Amino acid sequence: MELKIKNVCCIGAGFVGGPTMAVMSKFCKEIIFNVVDINQKRIDAWNNEDLDKLPVYEPGLKEIVSKTRNENLFFSTNVKESIKNADMIFISVNTPTKKSGLGAGKASDLKWVENCAREVALYAIGHTIVVEKSTLPVKTAETIKRILHYETTANKNFDNKKTFAILSNPEFLSEGTAINDLENPDRILIGGEDEDAMNELEKIYLNWVKKEKIIRTNLWSSELSKLIANAFLAQRISSINSVSALCEVTGADVNDISLAIGFDKRIGKLFLNSGPGFGGSCFKKDILNLVYICDHYGLHTVSRYWNEVLRINVWQQKRISSIIVEKLFGTISDKKITILGLAFKANTNDTRESPAIKICEDLIEEGAILKIYDPKVKESQIKKLLPEKNQVNWSYYSSVLEAAYDSHAIVVLTEWGDFKDLNWTEIKKIMKNPSWVFDTRNIIDVQKAKSSGLQTWVLGQST
Ligand code: NAD
Ligand code: UGA
Repeated sequence: MELKIKNVCCIGAGFVGGPTMAVMSKFCKEIIFNVVDINQKRIDAWNNEDLDKLPVYEPGLKEIVSKTRNENLFFSTNVKESIKNADMIFISVNTPTKKSGLGAGKASDLKWVENCAREVALYAIGHTIVVEKSTLPVKTAETIKRILHYETTANKNFDNKKTFAILSNPEFLSEGTAINDLENPDRILIGGEDEDAMNELEKIYLNWVKKEKIIRTNLWSSELSKLIANAFLAQRISSINSVSALCEVTGADVNDISLAIGFDKRIGKLFLNSGPGFGGSCFKKDILNLVYICDHYGLHTVSRYWNEVLRINVWQQKRISSIIVEKLFGTISDKKITILGLAFKANTNDTRESPAIKICEDLIEEGAILKIYDPKVKESQIKKLLPEKNQVNWSYYSSVLEAAYDSHAIVVLTEWGDFKDLNWTEIKKIMKNPSWVFDTRNIIDVQKAKSSGLQTWVLGQST
């Protein structure tokens, strides 16, 4: 297939930009992919010879990077040069919730996206296809278009022959399964008005994705679909988490409920695992953004509806920390509690918005001394997460056994495979009596834990 695109630039070498471009470089050998970032440390990590030191941990990622890096995949801080050379530019920068000013606490902060648009306007040469890869509020393409238009026409030094086409191509990967999600996507969504630009982007994906999976819509449907997809996914988690509490008091088992309702094709089996609430960098921020947009358009009932999804999430986390305190005779002051897992889900080192962090903060507030172990989250990372003033209240260990030694209770907060088959007999021997295990992920072998003499509490079960 004839490809016009020869040189791609991706602005933002984060959890999305890095893996996405790595997969594209694997399937599109004839295209050069330049991934650029203003964060020198991050770029150095992407270029580290030791592939275990890449800044993002994703199963399958280092194998791809080892083959394509410095072949047709390059990481650098040379934003200007990479924009100049690009026929297509992916904007894949962070879009966190605004911290101050209008819409603070809800609206997305588009500062980084705007900066990118200005840099693209400044350095691009000839015709450039600009692709929104970041998750953005509906109508952001309008802002990008305006910036590109005003910057290029207002500045007399600019080459007036610069032209741009804007596309929306949201990313639906999940962390921990990013490479599989990118290689076998459920769908690729391309929103735009310029048919030629849409064809060019489609041609890239056709190197490994079937045409039937490529959906084309207008810009606004594409931008909004991404927010709605995340809102629907988060809503399922809040729904099953609300049910987990009901199961605990009625004798029903939340796993049975998930199984029974999931068999209904209209409901589906996936995304029905109850847990300590959803974390990660996106669900909360995207729903807050949706709530903000609804309020902006005067749709207050709609905004309240989506806001409840967030409220249940906070409630679930608080509920878990309260149960731990209650079971440990109403006080955890000076009690050692082992925390297994800090990542917001398994198979990632990402702790952004992790429910585990919120629960740890609550337990520290109650006076507990936490002994933390996570297979992928480093001690240096935890130092940034749990405030320094609390450092006497937590310490980091490099194995389950070390973390469990001398503690009153173990709390399983991330569903790491290593935690599914723990040697409870050995663990029980080194813990204080009575020893508790709280499983917020429904993954441990409860019978084995019980028969080893541990007291157990499992989310969504009336144990
Ligand atoms: P991230 O914070 O990991 O990475 C963003 C990178 O952009 C950072 O390294 C930052 O230094 C860089 N950056 C910011 N401004 C820049 C500029 N002007 N020039 C060069 N680099 C710049 O973020 P992420 O997790 O990769 O998310 C990026 C976007 O993708 C967000 O909008 C997010 O909502 C969306 N998204 C994320 C995921 C996910 O799983 N993390 C999945 C789908 C969509
Ligand atoms: C989520 C979406 O799944 C992706 O499609 C989307 O691209 C991405 O957000 C994004 O826009 O950033 P991610 O946050 O990486 O991906 O991970 P998920 O697998 O969705 O998990 C999110 C949270 O929900 C985790 O804390 C996880 O433990 C929790 N979860 C997930 C449950 O509690 N139960 C479930 O059944 C599934």
